[in-house]
Formats: sequence, structure tokens, C-alpha cells
Amino acid sequence: MRKLLASLAITMGAVGVAHADLQADADAAAGRDKAQACAACHGQQGISPSGAFPNLAGQQASYLAKQIMDIRDGNRMVAQMAGQVDNYSDQDAWDVAKYFAEMDPALGQAEDDEVLIERGRELYRAGNMAKGIPACSACHSPTGEGIGSAVYPALSGQKHDYLVSTLQDFAAGERANDPAAIMRSIAAKMSDSDMDAVSNYVRGLH
Ligand code: HEC
Ligand code: HEC
Repeated sequence: MRKLLASLAITMGAVGVAHADLQADADAAAGRDKAQACAACHGQQGISPSGAFPNLAGQQASYLAKQIMDIRDGNRMVAQMAGQVDNYSDQDAWDVAKYFAEMDPALGQAEDDEVLIERGRELYRAGNMAKGIPACSACHSPTGEGIGSAVYPALSGQKHDYLVSTLQDFAAGERANDPAAIMRSIAAKMSDSDMDAVSNYVRGLH
């Protein structure tokens, strides 16, 4: 038993090291060459031309790499991306992730509606205890830039329509690649107007 545990620990250690190497070796220039096909939907500067397509510019590299691998492996279904990343190695995913992570994020302006902004701010910073919704800021950070080492994505500057639709997908279980179902359980407690308010608020958050 002890031997088994020891070899497990070595295996897991090795996985950790491999991951660290992929990140350390990530090459943004190699990523740029591979990312040409992505521009049609995600934009030449990582800022997409449509609310249906998420911005990638300035997103956490660890999160982007995870999503690319999840999409490749079928753990996150994105019909529009069929075939786009099928041939990517893990290193390719990290290269492209680094390329987009280094771009300037698209900071926007929240809709000029004080009531809506205040509601979004409240939910983002404090959550809603009565509904059992935790503060988003605990994981997505007070400035909305996320926490790369924990693979918590940035939300600030993200497209409003995309945020609402991905929260709806989490709530319905149609997006299910979140570790320990953390976002599925949070989104399921949010109303449509909660989703709208918080998505509006983070657009201008930085
Ligand atoms: C034809 C359009 C299209 C193309 C081309 C495309 N994507 Fe996407 N991508 C999408 C859509 C749509 C989504 C969001 C799907 C959803 O709502 O879950 C997405 C989501 C993503 C996400 C997740 C973002 C997030 O915030 O979670 C990443 C990362 C991504 N794409 C990377 C790429 C890369 C890398 C390429 C090029 C190899 C690429 N995409 C090409 C349409 C496209
Ligand atoms: C305990 C940590 C935690 C809390 C609290 C949390 N999130 Fe998340 N969130 C995550 C993680 C982890 C992911 C990435 C899941 C994955 O790997 O696909 C995520 C992803 C998301 C995404 C998808 C981003 C994208 O680009 O596709 C949205 C939107 C989101 N969270 C909104 C919220 C909102 C709104 C709140 C507050 C009501 C919140 N989160 C609270 C951990 C958290």
C-alpha cells in the first residue's frame, strides 16, 4: 500500500512538472502562426466582432489552454469550432493561449443604468446569501482579471451576450467542464436578471 501511494505521488508529481514545463515552454510566436484560423471569429487582436464569440485577448493563459484542450477532447462542446483544434498537441494549446493572453483586453463600458450597475456590483462583490450565491470576486478577483494559478478566468471586458449565454449553459448543464461543478451549481441559482446585471457590471470592471 505504502509503495502504491509512493508511486502515485511520483506519478502525480510528474504530471505537475509536465504541466509546468508546457507553460514555461509556451511560445507566443509559434502560437501566432497557429492562431490565424481563429481570427475570423475571435478577431485579429483577440477581440471578437460579435457578442456570440468570446474575446480571448488578455484572458488568463492557463484558462485558455484548458478550454482549448477541453474543446479538443470533447469535454466542452463548441459546434462552431468543429475541426479547429482537433490536431493541437498540449504544447500547441499553450502556445496559442500565451499568444492571446499577451494581447490587450477589451475593456468596455457598463450600460449607463445606475440601478442595473448597482445590482451587478452587489452580486459580484458580495453574492446573494439568501439564494446561496457566493461572491464572484472571491474567485474572479476584485478587478475581474481572474487568478491564473488557480485557472479562474478573467471576466472583465468579456462580451455581455457571451457571458449570459455561457452562464445559461452552465445552469442547464450544457456546459459541464467546470471542476467540481462549481459554476454549474452557482449559475443554477441565478435568475436571468442576475445574469444580465453581473454581465453588464463586469464589462467595465478593471
Ligand atoms: C467559426 C467561429 C470560430 C472559430 C473559427 C474559432 N472559434 Fe473559438 N469559439 C467560438 C465560439 C462560438 C465559442 C463560444 C462557444 C460557447 O458559447 O460556449 C468559442 C470559444 C472559444 C474558447 C473559450 C473562451 C472562453 O472564454 O471560455 C477558446 C479558448 C477558443 N474558442 C479558442 C479558439 C481558437 C484557439 C481558435 C482557432 C484555432 C478558435 N477558437 C476558432 C467560435 C469560433
Ligand atoms: C469558487 C470559485 C468561483 C466562484 C465563487 C465563481 N466562479 Fe465563475 N468560474 C470559476 C471557475 C473555476 C471557472 C472556469 C471553469 C472552467 O474551467 O471551464 C469559472 C468560469 C466562469 C465563467 C465562464 C467564463 C468564460 O470565459 O467562459 C463565467 C461567466 C463565470 N465563471 C461567472 C461567475 C459569476 C457571475 C460568479 C458570481 C455569481 C462566479 N463566476 C463565481 C470559479 C468560480
